[in-house]
Amino acid sequence: MCGIVGYVGRKENALHVLIEGLKTLEYRGYDSAGVAYLDKNNINIIKEKGKIVNLENKLNLDTKSSLGIGHTRWATHGEPNEINSHPHKVGKITIVHNGIIENYEELKNILKQSGYTFKSETDTEIACALIDKLYSEKNDIIKVLDKCADLLRGSYALGILIDDDLNTLYAIRKDSPLIVALGDNENYIASDVPAILKYTNKYILLENNEVAKLTNNNVTVFKNGKIINKDINTFEWNVEAAMKNGYDHFMLKEIHEQPKVIYDTVSTFFNNGIDSLIEKMPDFKKYNKIHIVACGSAYHTGLTGKSLIERYADIPVDVEIASEYRYKKLFLDEKSLVIIISQSGETADSIAALRIANDNNIDTLAIVNVVGSSIAREAKYVLYTKAGCEIAVATTKAYSAQVAMLALIAFNIAYTKGFISNSNEFMNELNNLVNKMNHLLDNIDEYLEVAKEIYQVEHVFFLGRGIDYSLAMEGSLKLKEISYIHSEAYAAGELKHGTISLIEKDTPVIAIVTDEKIAEKTISNIKEVKARGAKVILITTEKLNKVGDYYDYKLVVPNTYILVQSLLTILPLQIIAYEVAKLRGCDIDKPRNLAKSVTVE
Ligand code: F6R
Repeated sequence: MCGIVGYVGRKENALHVLIEGLKTLEYRGYDSAGVAYLDKNNINIIKEKGKIVNLENKLNLDTKSSLGIGHTRWATHGEPNEINSHPHKVGKITIVHNGIIENYEELKNILKQSGYTFKSETDTEIACALIDKLYSEKNDIIKVLDKCADLLRGSYALGILIDDDLNTLYAIRKDSPLIVALGDNENYIASDVPAILKYTNKYILLENNEVAKLTNNNVTVFKNGKIINKDINTFEWNVEAAMKNGYDHFMLKEIHEQPKVIYDTVSTFFNNGIDSLIEKMPDFKKYNKIHIVACGSAYHTGLTGKSLIERYADIPVDVEIASEYRYKKLFLDEKSLVIIISQSGETADSIAALRIANDNNIDTLAIVNVVGSSIAREAKYVLYTKAGCEIAVATTKAYSAQVAMLALIAFNIAYTKGFISNSNEFMNELNNLVNKMNHLLDNIDEYLEVAKEIYQVEHVFFLGRGIDYSLAMEGSLKLKEISYIHSEAYAAGELKHGTISLIEKDTPVIAIVTDEKIAEKTISNIKEVKARGAKVILITTEKLNKVGDYYDYKLVVPNTYILVQSLLTILPLQIIAYEVAKLRGCDIDKPRNLAKSVTVE
């Protein structure tokens, strides 16, 4: 969701850095793009609707420039057109913005009374005018940006240029991601790591309301007008990790990275056997209730986690969609734990849910992929998934890493409570699991056949019970978000209470049956849809594999340790979604209307 890149440096290649950086941020989702750069003592602004290449065609990339800011806009206020695109310039101030200024109408009225007029429909132009007004009064940009914290309500990451100081780039953030990266005689700002990884792996994390001042050879950070010391961090992810490495799409690459991701996520907890797992996780003994809060696929991993924790660790778990959780009445006490799951660690609704729990003094645990992200920093405990840099908008490897982490939590609690006594079986099977995942990913002919069978349909249904229902929901989301085929996931026993009326001849139904305890029940529900003409694609395990006349296609995954079975079952669902989208010619890594990191409410 909106990408920001900024550059100040002696190499004078601002335009290259901005355009290349914006391209690496394309995955965040956008519908227009623009740059402002120093061109012979003037700030030149060029912007364009649509893809970055449209903007690139309007630029002379050979122009030497030592200062600039660039932006990809995901429209919130006003349609995606050139005027609403960023950067915006008012008076002496030029800005790019990620986030939402909630009180922009109020500010607009005040600014109009001071004589300001506006060209665009955006909240950003209002913020720009406000900064210009304050700057014309105070003539001290650090004080002005400090003051923004009191005047701007909402979330914002801003990159700022000032006509009076064309050697300097300024930045400020509140609740929207922004990093300051440190190069050699050049410095940068960016919404996310990949934008600057080509040039440096050293960066500073800005906290809320800190102001950064960047020149080519210096970075200073201010808080309340005073210079503060900041730690310099090093990115673990390298450039190759952010490249496609020969795969047609990032999504396919990321699907194939899952065995390694699972190994990386899990193995750090077992470097000293089961003791290290217990040492490295919070002590769960004191909790008698868990809330898991997340959005989208992360919410689905929460549902999978609920099945595991309730069944094997005997703690009741409620799973909530973060955007609902933040406005509902909560029934929590000192024995409750709130787990927030997020790949990016910057999802606005999940951050809000976390803050509500923190404000109520409830213990919070973040399961997060991005080190140092807002959720990671604000939660009481944090467990990092090791999925690396996920570029495709539709999550796959981060999803699996979250499931693996929840399996570890369930195992930890079950083991410490004495419900599971033997840890060797689990630890041994983790190695086999990686091999089994690789084997499945190397043998996908049957998945391709299924994709060919369904890619032209309008509707697909997914069925499952218990943990398989949570996988059905994720399989359905993957399919619809990247292929634009309408699909619904149903608890297998629920279909006959209404939705079965939609089943007609050849309606594809993808049915998941991996849980031995309820397999027969689900199979009965599958027979109900088969009897009404459905084309059934059954996904089951080797153990439950039997011949029957209730399916048209059968995809069999190996069995593994019960807590991590989902990590195998999800693979055919991901591959089928990917192959269907590919057959339909969709923009797989950047589906329409979607953003990778949803930083607005
Ligand atoms: C779907 C997908 C989204 C995210 C959701 C939460 O493929 O990726 O549904 O899971 O937007 O994002 P994070 O995990 O960054 O909080």
